[in-house]
Amino acid sequence: MKDYIIHDEWNIIEEGFDPELNRVSESIFSLGNGRMGQRANFEEQYSGDSLQGNYVAGVYYPDKTRVGWWKNGYPDYFAKVLNAANWVGINIWIDGEALDLAKAKVSDFRRVLNMKEGYLERSFVATLQNGNQVEVKATRFCSIVDDETGAIEYKITAKNFSAPIKIEPYIDFDVVNEDSNYDEKFWNSVDQSAFDGSAWVTASTKKTNFYVCSAMKFAVVHNGSELTLNPELVEKEKYASNIIESVINSGETVTIYKYAANISSENHKIDDLSSVANEQLAKVSSKGFDQMKKEQADAWANKWVESDVVIKGDVAAQQGIRFNIFQLNQTYTGEDPRLNIGPKGFTGEKYGGSTYWDTEAYCLPFYMSTSNSHVARNLLVYRYKHLQKAIENAEKLGFKNGAALYPMVTMNGEECHNEWEITFEEIHRNGAIAYAIYDYTRYTGDKSYLGEYGLEVLIGISRFWAQRVNWSEAKQKYVMLGVTGPNEYENNVNNNWYTNYIAAWTLRYTLESMDYVKENNPEDLKRISGAVNFDFDKETQNWKKIIDNMYYPYDEERKVYLQQDGFLDKELIQVKDLAKEDRPINQNWSWDRILRSCFIKQADVLQGLYFFEDEFTEDEIRRNFEFYEPMTVHESSLSPCVHSILASKLGMEDKAYEMYLRTARLDLDDYNNDTEDGCHTTSMAGTWMAVVKGFGGMDIKDEKLHLNPFLPSKWQGYSFKINYRDVVLKVDVSKHGVEVTNESGEDLDIIFKGSPITVEGKAKKEMAF
Ligand code: BGC
Repeated sequence: MKDYIIHDEWNIIEEGFDPELNRVSESIFSLGNGRMGQRANFEEQYSGDSLQGNYVAGVYYPDKTRVGWWKNGYPDYFAKVLNAANWVGINIWIDGEALDLAKAKVSDFRRVLNMKEGYLERSFVATLQNGNQVEVKATRFCSIVDDETGAIEYKITAKNFSAPIKIEPYIDFDVVNEDSNYDEKFWNSVDQSAFDGSAWVTASTKKTNFYVCSAMKFAVVHNGSELTLNPELVEKEKYASNIIESVINSGETVTIYKYAANISSENHKIDDLSSVANEQLAKVSSKGFDQMKKEQADAWANKWVESDVVIKGDVAAQQGIRFNIFQLNQTYTGEDPRLNIGPKGFTGEKYGGSTYWDTEAYCLPFYMSTSNSHVARNLLVYRYKHLQKAIENAEKLGFKNGAALYPMVTMNGEECHNEWEITFEEIHRNGAIAYAIYDYTRYTGDKSYLGEYGLEVLIGISRFWAQRVNWSEAKQKYVMLGVTGPNEYENNVNNNWYTNYIAAWTLRYTLESMDYVKENNPEDLKRISGAVNFDFDKETQNWKKIIDNMYYPYDEERKVYLQQDGFLDKELIQVKDLAKEDRPINQNWSWDRILRSCFIKQADVLQGLYFFEDEFTEDEIRRNFEFYEPMTVHESSLSPCVHSILASKLGMEDKAYEMYLRTARLDLDDYNNDTEDGCHTTSMAGTWMAVVKGFGGMDIKDEKLHLNPFLPSKWQGYSFKINYRDVVLKVDVSKHGVEVTNESGEDLDIIFKGSPITVEGKAKKEMAF
C-alpha cells in the first residue's frame, strides 16, 4: 500500500519525483480515448526504470505459447496487446547534455491528471550535470474528439544559462513488449519518412498483419514566434525524426507543439494509412493545441454529465470513484463492436489486453447505466460474433453438436490462455456470458436481442453445460467434475457450487428465452433452430432433467452452500489470523500451500449469491456471507466489490464501506502492490457497482427499477445518474433523505425502498429514508 497521491476531487496529483514509484505512476497517469492509449512515459529520454507503453485498440499479437509441459488442447499462442510506436518522444539536449531525469537533479516535480478536462500535465525543474537549470511544463492528451490523434505542448525555460539547445521530436516503432515469450520483436518495418516539421513510420505486426502508421507534425515556438526549423531529417528502420538546433537564453522559453496520429488497418485501407495520418494531422494542427484542449474539455464535460458520481464529505473517496470512471471512459467508448475491455485497459501489458469474463460480470452494468443501450449491446454482439470460434474451441476439447465454450482469454474469439487449470477448467466464464444477456435484457427491456442474437449464444452455451455434466450413480444427481471456480486458489475440484448453479441456471434461462422468442418472434426461432439444428424434444428434455437433478454441495450443519465437494475437509481458519508477513499469500506462500488452504482469492459462492440474489432468502445470503467473507483474501481486484454489494444488501454498512474503500483506491494507493503492471480497469467498474448497486441499492426486479439507498456514515451525501430504458434518473442521497430527479420527458414508475412511486418526467421526488 502506498500513500503518495495527493487527495483532490478532480485531479490525481503527485508531487516530488521518486524513481522507485515511476512505474506505478506511469500506470496511474495513463491516458486513453478508446482507440488508443498510453502509459505516462516521459516525453524526454529517461534512462531510469520505465515500462514503455503505447497501445492501439484491436491490434494484438499471437505470441507463441510458452509452457513447461505441453498438454493437448492448449492454444498455440497467447494474444498480447502490442506495445506500439512511441509517439510522445521529444529528446532534448542542452549544451550537448541530454535532459534525462535519471541523471539530472530534479526539483518541483509535479504530475497532475486532470480528469475533469482529460489531460495530463507534468512540470519540474532539472539541474543538469553541466549545471544548467531548466524548467519544463508538459501537457498532453489523447483526443476524444479526434480519436486517432493526440497532442503535446512541451515548454522548456532556461533558468540560469544561455546555451545551444537541440530538440528531436520523433516516432519510434522499434519497441518491445516486456512480456514477450521469446524476446521477439513483434513489429516488421514497412517504411518511414521524415519531412520538414513532420514524420511518419509504418510498421506491420508479424503473423496478424495489422498495419499501423504513426505520424507526427510539430512546430517550435521561441520568444513568441514560430521557428523556421531547418531540421536534420532522420530516417532509420522503424524510426523517423527531426533534429532542430537553436540557442536558448536565460529566461527564455521554447515551446514544442507535437501532434500525433495512430492510424491502423483495422479502420483504414493499408495503402491509405500515411495519407489518412497526414489528413488527420493537418486537421488537428490547424485547430491548434489550445482549441483541441478546449474541445477535449467540452467532450469530457459531456461524459461527466452522464457518468459522474459525486461524493460529499470524503475527498479520498471522491477522487477514487472519479479516477475509476475516468479510466473506464478512457478505455471503452462502445462505438466499435470489435473492441472490448482488457483488464488493464490501456495502462499496461499484463493480461494481454484481452477480453475476460470481467466484461460480462463486472463492466457491463457501468456501460449499460451511463451510456445509451447500444454501447452495452455492442459488448454482447462482440460475443455473438465469436460464437463460431467458441464452438470450435469446445470441439478442440472434445465437445460436439454446437456446444460452445467461450474462451477465458481472447482477442478474436479463440482461446489463448494456456494454463490447464484455467483454460480447461475455469468454465464458469461461459455462464457469465449467458448472464450478461439476461442482465442486458432485464435492464434495457431490449428483448428483441434474444431473437436477433442472444438465443443462439444461449443454445451453444447450454449445449456445452449439458455435455460437461455427468450422471453420478453414487449421488443420483448430475455432477460437474474437475473444475476451477472463480476462486483460482483451488483447482480441479468437483462440484464447484457456483459453476453448477450457473450451469443449471443457464439451461433454465435458455428454455425461458426460447419460449419468449417462440411467442414473440416465431420467425427468429425457426431461423435459429434451423441454423443450429436444434432437436427440440431431445435437447429440451435432457436440459430439464439436468435442471431438476443438478447436485449442489451443501452443509446441513452450517446451512451454507459449499464452494466444492471437499471444502469442509480443509482447515477452516480466518484471514484475520494470518500473520501480516504472509499477506498477500500469492506473493508469500508456495502455490501448493495456497491450493490446500481454505483461503479464497475472490468471491465464489458469493459471486453466485450476488448474481442470483432473488433466488435466495436474505438469511441464506447472510449465513453464506458470514461463512465465506472471513476466509476471503481478496487477492483478485474483482473481489471486494461483490462483497461490498452483498454487505450493503445485508445492512452491514461498515463492512460494505470497508470493502468499497479497498476497491475504490486500489490503484491510487497501490493496494495490492501491482499497479506498476497497469491499473485494474475492469475492477473499476466493480467500484461503480459498489456505489450504485450497493449503497444506492439499484436493482431490476419484475421489470421495475428498484432503489434502496443508504448513506455511508463517513459521507455527507452522494449522487449518481443512471440511464434506465432511456430515462435518465439522478439519485441524490443526503442526510436529509433522497431526491430522485427524472431528467427525461417520460414518467417512470420505480420501487423505492419497497414501495411503488412514480417519478414524473422533468420532475423531482423527495423521499425520507
Ligand atoms: C481473476 C480472474 C480475472 C482475471 C482478469 C484474475 O486474477 O482471478 O477472475 O478474470 O484476473 O481480471
